[in-house]
Amino acid sequence: MSIAFTPLTFQRGPAMKNRFMLAPMTNQQSAEDGVLSEDELYWLRVRAEGGYAHIVTCASHVQENGKGFPGELGIFSDRHIPGLTRLAGALGRQDCRSSVQLYHGGLRAIVPGRFSPSGDDAKGVATMTEPQIHETITCFIRAAERAQKSGFDGVQLHAAHGYLISQFLSPEFNRRTDRWGGSVENRSRFLFDIITGIRNRCRPDFQLGVRISPERFGQRLNDVIEVSERLLDGSQIDYLDLSLWDVFKEPEDTRYRGRTLMSYFAELPRRNIRVGFAGKIIKPEDVQHCLDNGADYVVLGKVAVLYKDYPKRMRADPTFAPRWLPVEADYLRAQGLSNTFVTYLSTWTNFVLDQAPPSGAARFDIGEYLQKGTSGH
Ligand SMILES: Cc1cc2nc3c(=O)[nH]c(=O)nc-3n(C[C@H](O)[C@H](O)[C@H](O)COP(=O)(O)O)c2cc1C
Repeated sequence: MSIAFTPLTFQRGPAMKNRFMLAPMTNQQSAEDGVLSEDELYWLRVRAEGGYAHIVTCASHVQENGKGFPGELGIFSDRHIPGLTRLAGALGRQDCRSSVQLYHGGLRAIVPGRFSPSGDDAKGVATMTEPQIHETITCFIRAAERAQKSGFDGVQLHAAHGYLISQFLSPEFNRRTDRWGGSVENRSRFLFDIITGIRNRCRPDFQLGVRISPERFGQRLNDVIEVSERLLDGSQIDYLDLSLWDVFKEPEDTRYRGRTLMSYFAELPRRNIRVGFAGKIIKPEDVQHCLDNGADYVVLGKVAVLYKDYPKRMRADPTFAPRWLPVEADYLRAQGLSNTFVTYLSTWTNFVLDQAPPSGAARFDIGEYLQKGTSGH
């Protein structure tokens, strides 16, 4: 039997029963005030039933002005706790570990009052003041406490894809000259202060993961390697999630070519901290390839949209050949997606075969997204 179906322990909190984690995926199914809906509960519950060992929610904003998408799940207020409690309970009953992805959009938020480490007058984005930085760190910590109170096993910090934490990490978006900008140490202070705060405020076995993306979105590969080394050399986090968008690709930075982007992270000393990868893991042999090449677990995104029960299927048939995009809207509905989610996916190029996006909706092209790194998730 593949190692994919063996348990994975963590230095804190419960083990995963196998090596499959559901990627955090924005789905626009929540109420406009961020309260969890039946649709969101259902789409995740059926995946817990389908054998995923750890489910990470979609990006969930920790502060009202951090909301990045319509219908985004919220965790900025105690009014979100009852819905989150139902979700954590439903996942736990399937022996599935659960985390809320903690998120702030920063300059890419869609609501008034946007700010970022360095402002942009033309776009109406303010430069964060020192008190605002501290307040936002506190919001991340309070959100983790709410996740804990709701019964989640942990939280995952969204430090990837050009959102607020990633804006701090990036020398392109962060042009500050104070203690929050300049050196890698200063640019990563926001992330590490959130981590320390969560560790101080949450119970000792509350799991803490960090999701990071090493390139595009204004990131520099060498900086992200340095931050990852520091994360893996400490004892504060439990897993590091590398969002690569393609585990088989080579780095964009020509100085690092000749081997895969994944290999730079797979080789870092990691003590007791687990490392997982996301991006184009589609076929069972892709899963095996990652596990054979340094991944402790794999993170499935689009193929998990297509298969609510991918782990169970692969276990039953290790040679199963998943179908691929685009697919019919009815197929997605049969996999537990609501009409709202299907409509959102219809705005992605080449996702839904037989449903046009609503007129006037922003189109989402993954190729363009990767090239520019300026919009999307
Ligand atoms: C519909 C959709 C929504 C996404 N939303 C998020 C998100 O909320 N947070 C995040 O970190 N990544 C998000 N991503 C990225 C995925 O987590 C994943 O890393 C990416 O899709 C690559 O994996 P895949 O090739 O298996 O799809 C999203 C991806 C998709 C397809």
